Order: sequence, then C-alpha cells, then structure tokens
Amino acid sequence: MHRLIKEKLPRHLAIIMDGNGRWAERRSLDRIAGHQQGAESVRDIVRASRRIGIPYLTLFAFSSENWNRPPGEVEALMLLLKNYLSSELPEMLDNGIRLLAIGDLNRLPKDVLSTLNETIKQTSQATAMTLSLALSYGGRDDILQAIRRIMINCREGTLAPEEVDEKLFSKYLWTASLPDPDLLIRTSGEMRISNFFLWQLAYTEIYVTPTLWPDFNREELIQALLSYQERERRFGLTSEQIKTGDR
Ligand code: FPP
Repeated sequence: MHRLIKEKLPRHLAIIMDGNGRWAERRSLDRIAGHQQGAESVRDIVRASRRIGIPYLTLFAFSSENWNRPPGEVEALMLLLKNYLSSELPEMLDNGIRLLAIGDLNRLPKDVLSTLNETIKQTSQATAMTLSLALSYGGRDDILQAIRRIMINCREGTLAPEEVDEKLFSKYLWTASLPDPDLLIRTSGEMRISNFFLWQLAYTEIYVTPTLWPDFNREELIQALLSYQERERRFGLTSEQIKTGDR
C-alpha cells in the first residue's frame, strides 16, 4: 500500500507523455509500436489516477507541432486516439470519468472529432474525475485564441479592457473549466515545457522522470505524487508566512 496523504493530492495533475519514439528505437521497433505501448500506459495511468482520487487529469496527447511529423505517424496517432476513445467508453462510464478535450480541435480528422464529441457527450454527467486530452494543443495558440476573442468582445462593446484581469483571462483559455495544474509530470528526462500550458503552469510543481512514457506505470505515478506531497508550495510567500498562515 502506498503512503499517499489523501488531503494533499494534487487537484489537477497534468502529464507530458514523452519518449514513445525512443522506447521503440531501443527495441529496434517502428515508432508507431512505441505509441501503441504509450496508449497502454494511458489506460493504466487514467485507471490509477481515478483509483487514487485525483479530480482532474490532463494528458498532452498531441501538440500543435506534432502535425509536422511524417503523415504515417500522424495517421497512426489519430487511429490510436480513436480506438482508445471507443474501447475506453464503457470503463469511463463505469468509473465516473468525464472526458474533455482542449486544443485546436477543428484540425482533427472528421471521424476522430465526431468520436471525440460523442465520448464527451456520453460522459458529460460523470463526476468522479475529469480526464482532459490536450489535442492539437499549443500553449501559445491557446493564449492567442483567448486574446483574439477578448479583442472581439471589446470591439463589440460587451467587454471593457479594464475588466481584463487574470481571472477573466483564464476564462477565455481552452482550459476555462479546469483549475490550474498543481503538478506537472514529464517523462523521458527532458527539462522543458514544449509549448504545453504556458499561462496555467505559473505555480505548478514540476516532476521530471527519466522513465520513457511506455514504461511509466502506477508505481512511478505514486513516486511522483509522494515527491509532490513533500514539497512546500509558497506561491511567492515566505516559508514563515506559509507555516504561520500570516499573510
Ligand atoms: C511523445 O513521444 C508522445 C507523443 C507525441 C504522443 C503521445 C501519444 C500517446 C501516448 C498514445 C496515444 C494517445 C492516447 C490518448 C491514446 P515521442 O514520439 O515524442 O517520443 P520521442 O521523443 O522518444 O521520439
């Protein structure tokens, strides 16, 4: 049994799933085999997060830059995503998992988008965990689409520039319905954000593991959560202020 403290779990866990290609290369396999194994890790980690009791889980499944990969790889990723959605729907429904998607979704192939929308619709009443898939997502794209919509509203006269503060801006991001992430996990050892959540990660704790995504499992997830629970989150305050509650 793990030693996690229920009250100190992250409310929102975000994961950059990296290393599928390297996992395959090390085994002299096709990169697509790495993504297939990566999809198995997605299944395990969603299941484990739900059991542990994490309310919001977001997975960076496809970035806006990933469209530039070889067409065969993009196609394989889209097919994996579609198959994942169809095969996991019963489990999502059984376990109270609500699916959301964030990103420039109109770029997705029509059949994938319709499966996605159907899954979102069917799981919309679930309340135990919100699983968000970041698809065709870029942090800069997200900020730009928010700015565009804010400017349109200002031009139309439904919003005044003085009203634009952090809270309002957050409501224009694709992540409007999600709290900011408390913990970001990145697999495969890379120490970068790779145009994932830029605005949303302002105070997020970051955990990087050398483990490649297809090898990432429940035990590794628990390690990351234990590490998170040992940290002191100060949000710009002093350690003393946090301890005494004097602010
Ligand atoms: C990074 O590995 C991973 C991706 C670009 C895609 C993530 C997709 C999955 C985990 C599988 C499908 C998703 C779902 C939701 C079923 P990489 O190819 O960049 O690895 P590398 O850096 O070692 O080349």
